[in-house]
Amino acid sequence: MRLDKYLADMNLGSRKEVKQFIKKGLVTVNDAVVKSDKFQVNEKADSVAFDGEVIAYQKDFYYLLNKPAGVISATIDDYDETVMDLFDDETYRDDLFPVGRLDKDTEGLLVITNDGALAHRLLSPKRHVEKEYYAEVAGIMTEEDVAVFANGMTIDGNETCLPAKLMIDAVDEAAETTIIRLVLHEGKFHQVKRMVQAVGKEVTYLKRIRMGQLLLDASLTFGEFRPLTPEELILLETRDKQ
Ligand code: URA
Repeated sequence: MRLDKYLADMNLGSRKEVKQFIKKGLVTVNDAVVKSDKFQVNEKADSVAFDGEVIAYQKDFYYLLNKPAGVISATIDDYDETVMDLFDDETYRDDLFPVGRLDKDTEGLLVITNDGALAHRLLSPKRHVEKEYYAEVAGIMTEEDVAVFANGMTIDGNETCLPAKLMIDAVDEAAETTIIRLVLHEGKFHQVKRMVQAVGKEVTYLKRIRMGQLLLDASLTFGEFRPLTPEELILLETRDKQ
């Protein structure tokens, strides 16, 4: 690829700015100053440095975000703050986007990437990548509900859900509330809320805690994110529990 594209892709500046850096002799390829922005570099083999600092080429970027309530899972919106507003520092690429959607009031694990192929694989209904949610529910969830969810229920009259694993973690009989975890293999609109509603109860708090075998990092506060490790990237696409 062209040297100016390489540097612009690595966020050193706009294409116009990096051309100026190259002209000024600030850029070396394999330790030799290169002053032509058209110079072809092999991003896998060549060592490109800017102002003496080696700039490794990275094509795809992956982040684990602990989504806070109140922001929407979109790249751009006229009214609401979006998850991408959390990445508006110029050190981040401008082609990042969230993989799938969480409701505005839902918190927790959201992967942010510029890798469209990965997003497609994770969201494909055929791949059935697991998503696990923690929810607080008004009403008492029962073993009958566990069976209904396991059998593949119908919501809103005509939408059939794949079998889902409902786990009842705590029941407060006096307050008539339940803490549940729910594992889904698909991502229908408002799915957790609508499944719980279909058995006569209501989700009052919702957080995604797992995608594939990738867990939400408990050390991330709401709104915080960090790059995924290579091992976590594999876990994201791993189907079975380890
Ligand atoms: N199910 C919901 O109801 N909301 C979400 O944000 C995710 C899953």
